Amino acid sequence: MVRFGPEGYRPGYMLTDSQGLPVANADAAAIRALDHVLGQWLGYGKDFAPFVMVAQQAIDVPLVQMQMAALNITMDETSAHTAAGGQLALAEARKADMTEREQAWLRAMTAWHAGALDVAATAFDDMARAWPRDLFAAKLGQLLHFNRGDAEGMLRIADAITPANQENGFVRGMRAFALEELNRLEEAENAARHAVAMNRCDPWAHHAAAHVMETQGRLDDGIAWMEGLADTWEACNSFMYTHNWWHTALFYIDSDRAGQALALYDTRVWGVWKEFCQDQINAISLLARLELRGVDVGERWGDLATYLLPRLHEHFSPFLDLQYLYGLARAGEGAAVTEMLASLEDRAGRAQAFERTAWADAAVPAAHGLVAHARGDWGTAARLLGDALPHLQAIGGSHAQRALFGALWLDALIRAEWNDRALAELLVNDRARGNIAHTKRDLAAIYQRLGRAEDALTASQQAERLTRRYRPA
Ligand SMILES: [Fe+2]
Repeated sequence: MVRFGPEGYRPGYMLTDSQGLPVANADAAAIRALDHVLGQWLGYGKDFAPFVMVAQQAIDVPLVQMQMAALNITMDETSAHTAAGGQLALAEARKADMTEREQAWLRAMTAWHAGALDVAATAFDDMARAWPRDLFAAKLGQLLHFNRGDAEGMLRIADAITPANQENGFVRGMRAFALEELNRLEEAENAARHAVAMNRCDPWAHHAAAHVMETQGRLDDGIAWMEGLADTWEACNSFMYTHNWWHTALFYIDSDRAGQALALYDTRVWGVWKEFCQDQINAISLLARLELRGVDVGERWGDLATYLLPRLHEHFSPFLDLQYLYGLARAGEGAAVTEMLASLEDRAGRAQAFERTAWADAAVPAAHGLVAHARGDWGTAARLLGDALPHLQAIGGSHAQRALFGALWLDALIRAEWNDRALAELLVNDRARGNIAHTKRDLAAIYQRLGRAEDALTASQQAERLTRRYRPA
């Protein structure tokens, strides 16, 4: 085994990265690349080229290859997934050189690449406990838990790494989002604000606080918070940039300013990197939400669908698949929808025990329900989305993202005139966030149908008061 020291080759010597962790076979350039990519990874940056260039040369540095594989796997795209396999094979070839931490990395990444997400998740938990300074692994492990709908797992990792990284604001942002997904809203906002006080350029902390404000219906706070920090997103990768603007657009939609949300769609949310899955689902979800508020989105579904057509058989995640499918269905891509539904059912049929809830209990009925909604078959959509919703957390994504499916279900209930069920759901929403004019208008319409004229009048007066706040003078 050859190892590199500051003076060149020196047997038994191993360089360490900025977190104090030894890296097998690394020279100074590899260490610099690893330190650089960690900053980009934690800060959702877009300057990955220096790392990629080093990775192409440093084929004997297993950690570089495994982090390159991680970047590829998180693309959720077929050719990137294949490339990751090659990088993991390069790492495996240097297994004899690896530290214990790097061997843990190899177990985790190999399992993830093979689709054994339960094994990978446990491996990342173990790594966070054993090497809390390995923040690349911790962030990756949180993402894996997020993709599996496991907010407790996200917090487990944050708690494991926090004591050893007190100086690092990003770690507080990582903890903030986990807390938010566990509905510990006050703690989440405090942690996010602390993170931003330590480092204003922490878009994940901006995002965690936006989730809190969204959940609490704090629309003005949300817009002010996000727009006050948006200048820092110019340095962000397309996921974080488009996702934080997606959140900002949601605040506009709920405050009855759908026109401004549509403008954000055109200028910020769609168009940065149209081939990337995360950009695509931000766009699909925003268009769907705009349509639910009665906005005519014109030809936009057609443009989106062009980029969804290559994804019919990918099945990297049920959460992604469902949104691709709805986008294709709204674009009128009937043949593609039929093909994807069959492929998705096949994938669900092959699900391993740990993922059966996500694919079979949630994704299959939701997929058919979403297609029914897109085609205006309201009764079928109401029934099938209703079947899927109790299992939906297992598909991954955040509460705010999965709320789309609940909103489409509610819309189907209203249009199918399942009035009692729709009323119950609207009252739940109104209790959770009592300042949403759209909910009040829907309540008024349902009360009207049920012959409850007085309740209808009250709800419509409340809606009018809320709407007036945002109307131009
Ligand atoms: Fe989010």
